[in-house]
Amino acid sequence: MTEPKPLRAHASCDAGLEAVVLAELHALGVTDARTAARGVDFRADWRTIWRCNLRCRVANRVLVSVASATVEGRDPLYDLIVSLPWEEWFPVTRTLAIAAHGVTPALTNTVFTAQLCKDAVCDRFRRVTGRRPSVDLERPDVVIDVRLRGRDVMVSLDTSGARLHLRGYRAQAREAPLRETLAAGLVALAGVDGATPFLDPMCGSGTIAIEAALRARRIAPGLQRLAPGTPGFSLTRLSSFDRRAFDDEVAACRAEERPAPARIRASDRDPRAIRVARDNARLAGVLTSIDFSVADVATVTSDADRVILITNPPYGVRLEAEDAVERTWSTLGDTLKQRFSGSSAFVLCPDRALERALGLSPTRRFPLYNGPIEVRLLQLDLWTGHRPSP
Ligand SMILES: C[S@@+](CC[C@H](N)C(=O)[O-])C[C@H]1O[C@@H](n2cnc3c(N)ncnc32)[C@H](O)[C@@H]1O
Repeated sequence: MTEPKPLRAHASCDAGLEAVVLAELHALGVTDARTAARGVDFRADWRTIWRCNLRCRVANRVLVSVASATVEGRDPLYDLIVSLPWEEWFPVTRTLAIAAHGVTPALTNTVFTAQLCKDAVCDRFRRVTGRRPSVDLERPDVVIDVRLRGRDVMVSLDTSGARLHLRGYRAQAREAPLRETLAAGLVALAGVDGATPFLDPMCGSGTIAIEAALRARRIAPGLQRLAPGTPGFSLTRLSSFDRRAFDDEVAACRAEERPAPARIRASDRDPRAIRVARDNARLAGVLTSIDFSVADVATVTSDADRVILITNPPYGVRLEAEDAVERTWSTLGDTLKQRFSGSSAFVLCPDRALERALGLSPTRRFPLYNGPIEVRLLQLDLWTGHRPSP
């Protein structure tokens, strides 16, 4: 018997996190993978695609390509989409939505492109089955992803559906929460593995500490999306879905869970933020793994020879006046210098002025995006005594 041909897949992510997603895919058994712009292209079977949806912490969505071609204009795009065997990939009873990205000289409006593709998919179903699927833009069963770039089009089944950062644990948020996938990216870049104690001294709604706890405890981030009332995954509504094999993947995830090996702390000066963070941690199933406290960063101390500290201090864009923000950054810098020697700190920083206010030289700067804001994750190795020579 010949092996089925591997699927061509793409795990999308935020700019700057491609290498982290590549490492995640390698850890999940993917061997044929390479980074691309804002994502990783790879080849895999369906079971691996399900595993990626359940376990990837940093990817935004996992697409399975069904066609790629060069098309010029509306009619060739319609002809391509109508020629594809959609009826083999999902039943007509599924609701669908099209996510169109990018423009070309002939297709300048993504809403129009989405409608054109929707008509082509529905026409295909009507021709083959006599019925047409319904469209549901709010909670579609199946999402078809159409990306135009230059004259090239890539058509994919979006196996995630709702973006993977929607883990299901963030019922509430305080000001300026980080997206869960970005928080998980910071945790990965900082090398959090659970063995070293962790601290976020300005934790807000707790996203970074919760992602650190999920990773330390080896809890697959997608498991919560299997509960009723959550968006779930589109992959479960495709014809390729095999409930028994999928349940085996879920059981394998659960079998790996463990208690957190080292202490995970999260604090904030705002008691309302800590209440929200605790609620979110409870929903994520990691409340017992995180010590939450109300504290100003000026008073926070280290509780071990080495901790990994990751934090996302206020930027001043939405939250506070500039002077007060610079003072907060300088207080954070003082705390790190005075009480965290021997530790590694990772601070998400939007500009040079705030980096200067911190008063520490980073060993490394990772360029990232926090939504539309270009930021750097500053790695600060807080040496004890003299800085070692390279
Ligand atoms: C940008 S928010 C953090 C958001 C968080 N990463 C999340 O995902 O929800 C910054 C946080 O720093 C806290 N903060 C500001 N000044 C502080 C200080 N001096 N000590 C402790 N926390 C402070 C604020 O209360 C706010 O919750």
